[in-house]
Amino acid sequence: MIKVSGPNADQIQYWNEVAGPKWVALHDVISAQIRPLGALAMDRAGLAAGERVLDVGCGIGDTTLELGRRVGPGGAVVGVDVSAPMLDRARAAALSAGAANVAFENADAQTAALPGPFDVLYSRFGVMFFADPAAAFANLRKALRPGARLAFVCWRSLQENPWLFVPTLAVARHLPLPQPDPHAPGPFAFADAARVGAILSRAGFVRVHHEPIDRELSVAGGKSLDETVDFLLQMGPASAALRQTNAAPELVDRVRADLREAIAPHAGPEGVRMGGAVWVVTAAVD
Ligand SMILES: C[S@@+](CC[C@H](N)C(=O)[O-])C[C@H]1O[C@@H](n2cnc3c(N)ncnc32)[C@H](O)[C@@H]1O
Repeated sequence: MIKVSGPNADQIQYWNEVAGPKWVALHDVISAQIRPLGALAMDRAGLAAGERVLDVGCGIGDTTLELGRRVGPGGAVVGVDVSAPMLDRARAAALSAGAANVAFENADAQTAALPGPFDVLYSRFGVMFFADPAAAFANLRKALRPGARLAFVCWRSLQENPWLFVPTLAVARHLPLPQPDPHAPGPFAFADAARVGAILSRAGFVRVHHEPIDRELSVAGGKSLDETVDFLLQMGPASAALRQTNAAPELVDRVRADLREAIAPHAGPEGVRMGGAVWVVTAAVD
């Protein structure tokens, strides 16, 4: 167990010991599923050659590498994350791609003194895990130059995301689900656009815009029905409930059977396709 302290200690531990190794192992399928959503936010950032970009919660770094390609050799991208296993993977990928304009920092984006100044703050699902998002965005804002832009993608509510809600319902038939504070750090912490708009405004961002995007996602990147069921039991609230209750293998098998039945109608030649709902959030610094 690693020793961590500070306001985000729980999340840092989680992303090093539980979720990080899982994301590294499932890297290909996760990336294939969320790549189109990350690309939308990247497109909205309107990157130009030579710009400097901060990729917040960069994880395994595939967005960092793509940002590096978009800003070209005269630009620079720094990926910041708290997960050592994910950053190891990111650094290895950058090395094998020969990406000389990207670098990675193991740092808490809420509290660390970040390098800069950056032209763009970008994130794909990496900004919803701060204990104090207002403090985090005030800190991030300090790393941006006047005139800088922000573009990130985050999930809307669980209920608007069938690809995660259906597995959650399958678990709920067998186990009482924890009822977390909807604003607690986690994948859905930024679902409330009014709250996030206020956080960003308070941190000094202007022209904050939330664009709702609804997309059919290729769940598990187009794997078979059974592989997709296994994948879904490892993601989101369903996985958290099974882990926290230490569910017995027979119970997991019953959940798996229910989930398989629920998603089978969504399976086709391209794998399982289910709805996802995100916000693409853009803003600027004057
Ligand atoms: C859902 S993952 C997204 C990873 C990556 N952006 C992607 O799309 O593949 C969330 C990421 O945020 C990182 N994270 C969580 N809290 C953080 C913090 N306080 N500072 C920096 N990164 C953080 C996690 O370690 C994890 O890599």
